[in-house]
Amino acid sequence: MNLLSVFKAQTIGLGTWHMGESRAAAQAEVAAVLHALERGVRVIDTAEMYADGGAERIVGQALKAYGAQHRDSLCIVTKVLPMHATREGTIAACEASLRRLGIDYLDLFLLHWEGNVPYERTLEGLAALRERGLIRHWGVSNFDLAELDAWRATERRLGLQSCATNQVYYSLLARGPEFDLLPAMVAQRMPLMAYTPLGSGELAQHAPLAAIAQPLGLTAAQLALAWTVRSGGVVAIPKSSTPARIDENLAAAAVKLGADTMAAIDALYPQPKRKRPLAMI
Ligand SMILES: NC(=O)c1ccc[n+]([C@@H]2O[C@H](COP(=O)([O-])OP(=O)(O)OC[C@H]3O[C@@H](n4cnc5c(N)ncnc54)[C@H](OP(=O)(O)O)[C@@H]3O)[C@@H](O)[C@H]2O)c1
Repeated sequence: MNLLSVFKAQTIGLGTWHMGESRAAAQAEVAAVLHALERGVRVIDTAEMYADGGAERIVGQALKAYGAQHRDSLCIVTKVLPMHATREGTIAACEASLRRLGIDYLDLFLLHWEGNVPYERTLEGLAALRERGLIRHWGVSNFDLAELDAWRATERRLGLQSCATNQVYYSLLARGPEFDLLPAMVAQRMPLMAYTPLGSGELAQHAPLAAIAQPLGLTAAQLALAWTVRSGGVVAIPKSSTPARIDENLAAAAVKLGADTMAAIDALYPQPKRKRPLAMI
């Protein structure tokens, strides 16, 4: 599985934050992740942080039910917490995530956000994991352009392959990455993973967005997602535990937006005119 080809072929994956938090919801969550896999979702995003590993366990159960024969076509993404991101801590976190997910390698392992551990130490751990075949690629999350440049400079100094992606908050409610981060990533041919693309569900309820979407035969959620992935260099990872919403969200991948629609959207959610700190959830 080539990560870039998966990202190119699939612009809408599945997020899992808040899954695994309640026993009562677990069965439905496993069924939702399995539904997504059966509908062709290849990119599943999770993290050791979510429900203290509970979301990874949900994904693991869905992957088991889906069958190991599909493993090669999937892109399973999880994240190490910054406080664990020393060399040894990164390795231990990956091993624990793999146990919870019930798989023997990760396609992508991200540093969840920048902490106090020097990049060198985290990169040593990531390089060791890659050497052992436990991860295929690594990346970062919540890195603004200056941090991303510094991370990549550290990679070069250590003679390592470069970071595969940066996962950041990017949606109609958080257009900050468009100012300089997204253009720089596009120039470097590095895909951006857009988290919280529905504004935690808020955008699905926006009446003015729904008013633009409705004549196009779309829901507000679909329009928000189609807008997020419009450039081709972005993969959105909306979370849903509801099969019908998963289908609704996936259908947004095929939507092409015209100039009039883009202008109407810009009028509602203006483009950033100056640099602001990267928004984080
Ligand atoms: N790297 C990071 O620091 C970071 C931070 C935040 C999130 N993330 C990742 O990004 C993923 C997505 O972000 P998110 O979960 O924060 O928010 P989101 O995907 O923007 O929104 C999820 C919420 O929207 C609802 N929803 C989904 N589809 C819908 C639809 N078609 N119509 C109406 N409501 C809909 C979901 O409810 P139901 O589940 O009930 O359908 C859920 O409450 C996360 O799950 C996580 O994997 C990463």
